[in-house]
Amino acid sequence: MISIYDRKKCIINHLAINACLAPVCSMHGIAVTTVEGIGSTKTKLHPLQERIAKSHGTQCGFCTPGFVMSMYTLLRNSPLPKMKDLEKTFQGNLCRCTGYRPIVEGFQTFTEEWELMQNGKWLTNRVCQMGDKCCKVVNGYTKYEENLLVDTSTFVPYDSSQEPIFPPELKLYNTLDRQELTFKGKQVTWHRPTSLEELLKLKTKYPKAKIVNGNTEIGVEVKYKHHIYPILLHSAGIPELADIHVRSSGIRFGSAVTLTSFAKYLSQQIQLLPEHETRIFVVIIDMLHWFGGEQIRNVATVCGNIVTASPISDLCPILVAAGAVLEISSAYETRKVVMNESFFTGYRTTILHDDEVLISITIPYSNKNQHFHAYKQARRRDDDTAIVNSAVNVLLGKDNVVNDFIIVFGGMGPTVTVPRKICAEIIGRIWNEETLNWALQSLAHDLYLPPDAPGGMIQYRRSLTLSFLFRTYLTIVQKISSTAFDVKNLSGLQGFYNQTPKSSQMFHIHPSSIKTDTVGKPIPHISAFRHATGEAVYCDDIPAFKNELYMAVVLSTRAHANFTMDASDALQMEGVHLFLSAKDLPHERNCIGPKSTNAVFVERTVTSQGQILGVVIAENQRIAQSAARKVKVIYEDLQPVIISIEDAIKHKSYFTDITNPCIIERGNVDEIFKSAPHIIHGEMRSGSQEHFYLETQSTVVVPQEDDGLEVYCSTQYPNLISVECNRTFVKYTDEQSSRNCQTIRWRVWW
Ligand code: FES
Repeated sequence: MISIYDRKKCIINHLAINACLAPVCSMHGIAVTTVEGIGSTKTKLHPLQERIAKSHGTQCGFCTPGFVMSMYTLLRNSPLPKMKDLEKTFQGNLCRCTGYRPIVEGFQTFTEEWELMQNGKWLTNRVCQMGDKCCKVVNGYTKYEENLLVDTSTFVPYDSSQEPIFPPELKLYNTLDRQELTFKGKQVTWHRPTSLEELLKLKTKYPKAKIVNGNTEIGVEVKYKHHIYPILLHSAGIPELADIHVRSSGIRFGSAVTLTSFAKYLSQQIQLLPEHETRIFVVIIDMLHWFGGEQIRNVATVCGNIVTASPISDLCPILVAAGAVLEISSAYETRKVVMNESFFTGYRTTILHDDEVLISITIPYSNKNQHFHAYKQARRRDDDTAIVNSAVNVLLGKDNVVNDFIIVFGGMGPTVTVPRKICAEIIGRIWNEETLNWALQSLAHDLYLPPDAPGGMIQYRRSLTLSFLFRTYLTIVQKISSTAFDVKNLSGLQGFYNQTPKSSQMFHIHPSSIKTDTVGKPIPHISAFRHATGEAVYCDDIPAFKNELYMAVVLSTRAHANFTMDASDALQMEGVHLFLSAKDLPHERNCIGPKSTNAVFVERTVTSQGQILGVVIAENQRIAQSAARKVKVIYEDLQPVIISIEDAIKHKSYFTDITNPCIIERGNVDEIFKSAPHIIHGEMRSGSQEHFYLETQSTVVVPQEDDGLEVYCSTQYPNLISVECNRTFVKYTDEQSSRNCQTIRWRVWW
């Protein structure tokens, strides 16, 4: 959580952010609170830490500090939040192993709804979220004491007045805000100008420099795409760029205004202005709900999203459809540009010259005859990028004749796409079903995607464009002429609005169970308090050992191929010690897994992407990983490539060594079918599910005396490691901890 004093409004803003994306240089003059700062097992737990742990809200615990700090930020801003606030707060927090129910159950005890429930005003049944509809309620009474998964009576009460105060020196003096700073690193120089003039001067001096605010794009590019930006200009502290002004043409936002402030200001205007003037604002706010998570919106900016020029930006189609006006400056001149598709000159490029800076954006007001809508389809509703998105701006005149029309799509090409021919030809037509059918046909024809278009899902993406247009049509028809609206289409208008989560986990203790018997009882995870306080030690938390080397893997990038490798470039890099592959390991040691069918290193033929071909060992992580990328792998693709059951059948590729095929049969299937009133024939497929591990897979190995090795590894399968070690080369193992999927320490001698 970062806390910033707003000198204009004299308030403290507490914001949850992603620590991994926040460069330390950007924290100058900002109060930072981490999970370790709010409580500890050695002194006192914060009530949040206590409740998530006691509510069984942690398993591997890797996500837990994030959940705790998101909730902590919410409480600092609103000591008695509502359940719907929790939902929004956790949009950017993912947990793959605990599941969200116990997390929410622990944290719901801070909400207004919980308070009401405690006072008997909400539900009479305090255990099951179904309330009086709970199946265990008989005659309005249930013995819920038997079923309490968590004894909330043991929770320490939360008293918001006990929170640490904001550092007074940051509030009293603005000295730190006004300092122009330069941080010089080995690869990157970070400048923090504090005036627009200085920023423009720096951009003239370093035209290739990147402007960074929230670092939500550049941070990802550096970390995962290995881009290097030698000069970064941090513009978050420039007052001229943080300004918001109401103008007659619209609302002008400086380019350093964050998405959170942007949404907050638009919401205020919606309250103040007539409804017909704020239709674009409403659409923007709705869309921002699905834009990243709170942690992203708290630091990312609207203008950052525009200049990044992502073809699947959630905002760009809306801004183009709205005709937003951009103000662009260099040290020599300022120009204004109406945002349209020509602002984007190609994949992730814009008309901005190297020495120019985007200064502001003005969002126009809407008018009485204007209809404005936007849609987004992603794989996951929260915190995900769009597959296709769209914004539509329609101006209807007398008798519902289209006076102006623009529809903009994201995800249908390298930049935002506007089918201009349709936009021009629809003008003058009446907004009715005939026009809709013409527009759908034209769109299906004009918005073509070649079969090999990047992003795939060609048919799906094309059908989404039609769906969005159809939905726009329905929405407008319903508004302008409710009599012409066919109610069978009503469901087509429903949006995605999450319901307040309700869930319960019940358990039953056998009456004969004695108090000291722990079996079958809900006992908190042994490491839960350490997870909740950030004290749990994972591989990456272990301080570096003397002479430690880092190993990075080289992975296959082909599905089926023979390969050869050349690591000479990697080995020439300073700090690289060694390259190892199958050639360096006797065959019997290279075979692992329950039936010795897996290989540590693939020997000659890869059968999927991501198999380990070799490893580079170097002095640190950065060198090892960049050296691993320098290993040349030459593939010779092999046929057939089998990626479906049909392919396998076609090529007669069967598993032949299955002695006990798994057939699941319950009851007499043939008999049941004879008496079934309906029989539906068909085929059902389910896609693969990504193993969504949050803890990175890593191991620390420390040589010991007598050829011993001490192994710290992150695993969910400690017994397999034991089996592997014993089967191959270990004389003795010692499991120090039974924590699930958290760093486990072993001693092995071989
Ligand atoms: Fe949430 Fe493991 S406990 S990811």
